[in-house]
Amino acid sequence: MNFGRAAAAEGAQAQLLVLPVLDGLAASVAYPQVNEALAGALARAEKRGFAGRFAATLVLDSLGTLPAERVMVLGLGKRQEIDRTRLNNALEMGIRQAGSPLPAKVALAWMAELGPEVDAQALACAATEAAILAEFTEATHKSGGKKPRRGVGTLVLAGFPRVAPPALDRSQVLAVETLHARRLVNTPGLELFPEAFAADARRHGVAAGLKVEVLDHRRLQRLGYGAITAVGMSSSRPPRMVVLRHGSAPARGRGKRARPLLALVGKGVTFDSGGISIKPAAEMGYMKGDMGGAAAVLGALSAIARLKLDVDVVGILCLAENMVSATAMRPGDVVRTGSGKTIEVVNTDAEGRMVMADGMHHAVTLGATHVLDIATLTGGQRVALGQVAAHVQGDNEEFTNRLVAAAAASGDRVWQMPIYPEYRAVIDSPIADLANSTVRDGMAITSGLFMREFAEGLPWIHIDMAAPGWNRVAAIRDMPKGPTGYGVRLLVNLAERFATPARRGRSSQS
Ligand code: BES
Ligand code: MN
Ligand code: ZN
Repeated sequence: MNFGRAAAAEGAQAQLLVLPVLDGLAASVAYPQVNEALAGALARAEKRGFAGRFAATLVLDSLGTLPAERVMVLGLGKRQEIDRTRLNNALEMGIRQAGSPLPAKVALAWMAELGPEVDAQALACAATEAAILAEFTEATHKSGGKKPRRGVGTLVLAGFPRVAPPALDRSQVLAVETLHARRLVNTPGLELFPEAFAADARRHGVAAGLKVEVLDHRRLQRLGYGAITAVGMSSSRPPRMVVLRHGSAPARGRGKRARPLLALVGKGVTFDSGGISIKPAAEMGYMKGDMGGAAAVLGALSAIARLKLDVDVVGILCLAENMVSATAMRPGDVVRTGSGKTIEVVNTDAEGRMVMADGMHHAVTLGATHVLDIATLTGGQRVALGQVAAHVQGDNEEFTNRLVAAAAASGDRVWQMPIYPEYRAVIDSPIADLANSTVRDGMAITSGLFMREFAEGLPWIHIDMAAPGWNRVAAIRDMPKGPTGYGVRLLVNLAERFATPARRGRSSQS
């Protein structure tokens, strides 16, 4: 995408001129010259009831009275509710409504009256990300040879104060990687099985500048990774583990480290039928998206490499398909993980924590100093927080605070949940070290504590993104629908908080 500048909204040349407004800040007042050029059309629409309600749009043809062909007034909602999430979502929903194909050139206006709640640079970055993400479509498999949805080619910033160009370039990288994660989540399990995901990760990761290693089924068996192989052996398409390395993240060994090594471990269950403890038929198709954590890790690592962040990060994708077959693991089985800890398979549908257990152990063997796991892990997360915010637990205040700050800056919402010791006994097993499933009470929390067992004492963060990975609740109107690419922007922002300031750049907070 290209960037352009214009002195003011009324001078911006584009197919679409977007005028952001707030509930209570009318477009006719904020953009009087545009209103005048349109012969008072903005004021008339406001009189008829158009306010700046969240993601509300008013689209008018300029009939040649402005250099812009069409004008879109876009509501950002209430001043006191503005944050980065609201900006990202309003802009993406607005630009998506600009029609198909999307306008090749979009101008975005700035007015000082939007501040201080709306920050000009944050708005420009949100618009950059939204313009790229508006390209996303779920309709990838329709016959008739329709061309892929065309994206916005140029974004013109009209009337903006100086916005640091690296901030816009960074947003572009983040959005392209988030788009890739959305496409992976949207891809049917028939096409995206562990080996196919690993091949994509290799291609995509190498192109970004990452070192990529794929551990195949035999390697996983030899390493003693009995949990990921137990899940994966249910499928005719065997499991894989992908290791993505950036900076001086080592290929082997537990040598002494001068700098932190951040490990990001993602759940990549390419399809989750539930296994022998099979899921109900209704909505099972959404389980093609049970690899959203791994997609977020691939996107984040690729962006970190493209942005050349001065930080050491290792990404681990735990790829398996959870199927029903003669070779499937069964309830009552006990498996031995790479860490040596044993897991009783109470429920074969609690497969995410099993593939992740071995992935987290692998991160520890590579010398990680901080371990973060991200997974579409539990229905409990959906019940508690829905698609609006991911569930987060951590056992190190500084690490967790960095993540919370990264969430606010990136727009990927997180909500912290407790790690009270009372919860821990719930995952004890009478036969093995841990049970993979127990009571429903506090399920998202106790599942998080299961993951903690595999961080082996290192500072740890757990993100359960079961619902935020795919916006599908129609009643929640303030978010773009479909696969979200949740986590890419969040994890890059977190990695930036580990990077040395010199190379972090002015733009990293945007
Ligand atoms: N992949 C699911 C969780 C999920 C549910 C993700 C809905 C996205 C949307 C996970 O593997 C699962 O089945 N979890 C079970 C665990 C239970 C059997 C202990 C759950 O949460 O019900
Ligand atoms: Mn499951
Ligand atoms: Zn699952």
